Formats: sequence, C-alpha cells, structure tokens
Amino acid sequence: MKIAIIGLGYVGLPLALQFAKNRQHVVGLDIDTAKVDSLNRGESYIKHIQSADVKKQVKAGYFVASSDFGMIRDVEAVLICVPTPLNKNREPDISYIINTGRAIAPHLQRGTTVVLESTTYPGTTDEDLRAVLEKGSGLKAGADFYLAFSPEREDPGNPSSRVADIPKVIGGFTPICLEKAKAIYGLALQNLVPVSSCRAAESTKLLENIFRSVNIALVNELKVVYAAMGIDIWEVIEAAKTKPFGFMPFYPGPGLGGHCIPIDPFYLTWKSREYGQNTKFIELAGEVNTAMPKYVVSRLMDALNDGRKSLNGSRILLLGLSYKAEVDDMRESPTFVLMDLLTQGGAEVAYHDPFIPVIQPTREHSHWTGTKSVRWDKKTISGFDAVLISTAHKAVDYAKLAQWAPLIVDTRNAMARIKTKSKQVWKA
Ligand SMILES: NC(=O)c1ccc[n+]([C@@H]2O[C@H](COP(=O)([O-])OP(=O)(O)OC[C@H]3O[C@@H](n4cnc5c(N)ncnc54)[C@H](O)[C@@H]3O)[C@@H](O)[C@H]2O)c1
Repeated sequence: MKIAIIGLGYVGLPLALQFAKNRQHVVGLDIDTAKVDSLNRGESYIKHIQSADVKKQVKAGYFVASSDFGMIRDVEAVLICVPTPLNKNREPDISYIINTGRAIAPHLQRGTTVVLESTTYPGTTDEDLRAVLEKGSGLKAGADFYLAFSPEREDPGNPSSRVADIPKVIGGFTPICLEKAKAIYGLALQNLVPVSSCRAAESTKLLENIFRSVNIALVNELKVVYAAMGIDIWEVIEAAKTKPFGFMPFYPGPGLGGHCIPIDPFYLTWKSREYGQNTKFIELAGEVNTAMPKYVVSRLMDALNDGRKSLNGSRILLLGLSYKAEVDDMRESPTFVLMDLLTQGGAEVAYHDPFIPVIQPTREHSHWTGTKSVRWDKKTISGFDAVLISTAHKAVDYAKLAQWAPLIVDTRNAMARIKTKSKQVWKA
C-alpha cells in the first residue's frame, strides 16, 4: 500500500518507519524542508530514532520525504500527525490540522482513507477536518473517501515501548471508515482497538492524558504537604507501589513538560464550555502543576539561606533541560520557567544537558535561544553556588556531582542512592 504521513515529528517519523519496515511505501510530507532534506539523506534529527533505521528504509525505497502535497494523488491512505498546541490565551490551536486539511483536499482521490492522529478535542475529525476536506475536494466523507481518528501513543525515550506493540485505538466516521482504517493499521501494527466513533477515539486519548496530569498533580500536592511534615514523598511512593492492586505510581517533579500533558487536557476544557460543562479536575491539576516551579525556587532559596546566601547574586546551574529523562525534546520544559524565575530573582543562571548542547529557538522562550550547555567538569560545576536537578538523565554522573557541587536541590530524587554530605542535598 502507498501511505502518506503528514508531519514528520516525534509521532509521524516513528510511524512512517513502522509502515516502511512492514514493506509499505511511505511518503512523509512536511512543510519543514530542512527535515525533508535530512531524512532523504538518511539522517534522523530525533535522538532516540536511529539514522541507520531511516537510511535503511530510504535505501530500500520504502520511505521518501517530500514537501509536495501533490503526491497525495497516488496514495491510498493519509495519516495526519501535525502539532496541536495552545494559543497565547491557552485555547486550542487547530490551525495546523486545518491547514493540512486544506493542503490535502485538492489532491484527495475517491477511495482514499484520511486518519487524524494529532491529539485534540472530540469533534475535530468529524466537524472541523471533515468540513475542510469535503469543501476542498467536492467529495463526501463516508461515501467518496473515508475518515477516521486514531490517537498516537508514544513514550519517547523508553526503549521498551515499541510502536508495533502499542495497542492502537481507532474510531471511524462511519462503520466502513473504521474498517478501512483498521485494514491500514493492520499492515504494520499488532493490536487494534476499534471504538464506535471518531469522538470516542479522540476522548480516549484525552482521558489518558488527563489521568496523568491529575495524578501527577496529586503527588505534587502531597510532596509539598508531606515535606512540611518532614516526610519524604519518594519513600512513601516506593512503599505504596508494593501494593499489588489498585495503586499505580506517579512521581512528583518541578512542573509539567512536553507537548502533551500540560496542553491536551485544556482542549477538553475549551470544548466542554460549548456544552455548558466544567472540567474542575483538569483546572485544579493545572493549577497545582504550574505552581511547582515556584515551590522549587522557594526550596532553593531556603537551601541557600541555610548557608547564609541569597538567591540574588548566586550562580545557579540547572541540570537537565529536556522535559523528561533520556530525550532531547525541550518543548514546554519547566526548566525554562525555573530559569526565568531564578533570573528574575537576581541569580546568574546556566544549564547542563548532555542531549541539548545549545538551545534552539522555541515559541515561548526565545530569549534563551543560543544559550549553550556548560561543560561537565569539576572546575565548571564547583563554580556554582547550587545545582538544581530538574531532569534526571541517566547519562549524568551523580556521584561526581556530589563530589563537585556544594549544594544540590533535587526535584527527581536522583541523589537518593549517592553518598552525599550532610545538608548538601535538598529535595524539592
Ligand atoms: N510527542 C509525543 O510524545 C506525542 C505523543 C502522543 C501524541 N502526540 C500528538 O501528536 C501530534 C504531533 O506531535 P509531535 O510531537 O509529533 O509534533 P512535532 O512538532 O514533533 O511534529 C510535527 C511535524 O508537523 C510538521 N507540520 C506542521 N504543520 C504542517 C503542515 N501543515 N503540513 C505538513 N507538516 C506540518 C512540523 O514541521 C513537524 O515536523 C500532536 O497532536 C501531539 O499532541 C505527541
């Protein structure tokens, strides 16, 4: 089968390779010509995706990248994996989906199946995307072409999570749309989970991400409460997770990051208003999670104060810039918020991240663009008044950190098994 995958990012690229590995001919379409060129040279721009895997499929002729949407004329399926951010008022921005729909529509052929994968509110596929596709093509969904929603479930940086094994939820606009979409995914994936509609599939993905956001907020709140009582939340979670049923561990941190958990729940909040509904859990979780960077800074100030230092004038190193361990993705990373808060408090701020040598342009934190990761050596690290661990990459030598840094504020329990001096490590 010939398949077009639109948006060759963290979601689209692994999916494209998965189909290519299963001997399906994939054309990857992206408006970013730099990505297109690099992929056609067989070079991956995502740390956890091997260039060798890209090269193999390009060489074998199963994968080609392009910016020419006219190629859609020759494919049987179009899978859309473009971004779904929030705008500056924290409302859904589905313009990437709509623009993609507009770009596809003039080339859409009878019998083609279009599947949206981007996380979004219920109704995006069968209202917004359908309207654009039908208008631009003159074809009818469910009759002339087929339409479905199937959310991506990616766990970047987790080597045991493989696209092929992750169950794939699929909802069709009509029963025949569902059958067509199942036939496509069945070519490359093991376990398909059909649901009754596009909206049920859209809602499934939101439930998964809201579940995480709310549970992370819960442990973040308990972290603060227990710390005030002199109890270590990490010890409590380790003990609680020995319960063989009814408990699932979530871990506290310096705030939410990444392209999904801090954003997706608010897609539902926005859509719920149309139905006169409130999403209190989502908003409360958002409130607790976004308060975390300030809490972490207050702990750092306490720690400095204990050594008769003030934040103002101190040199602080942020250890870990990506939003989670073992990835090079810094979107929505709470480390940026920490760097801003610390700078506002008069501190001199730097970062070290083995996966991000220099900060590339970001939508919201452009003032940090071009800042370089500092060297990882005794002279550099010991020159800081405090090191704040915001992301705990395995590649970092925490035993060395204990030897070099006078003060460590740890938001990830990274120093738990390391020998440290009294009052050297403060959990936050
Ligand atoms: N990253 C994850 O772990 C993850 C997991 C599950 C779901 N998702 C969802 O998947 C979707 C994509 O996320 P991502 O992380 O892959 O984003 P990304 O930014 O890594 O990739 C999106 C790609 O789409 C391209 N693009 C943007 N507009 C386009 C257009 N009009 N035509 C063609 N290409 C276009 C961009 O250049 C980029 O390469 C989002 O809705 C996200 O919420 C992401």
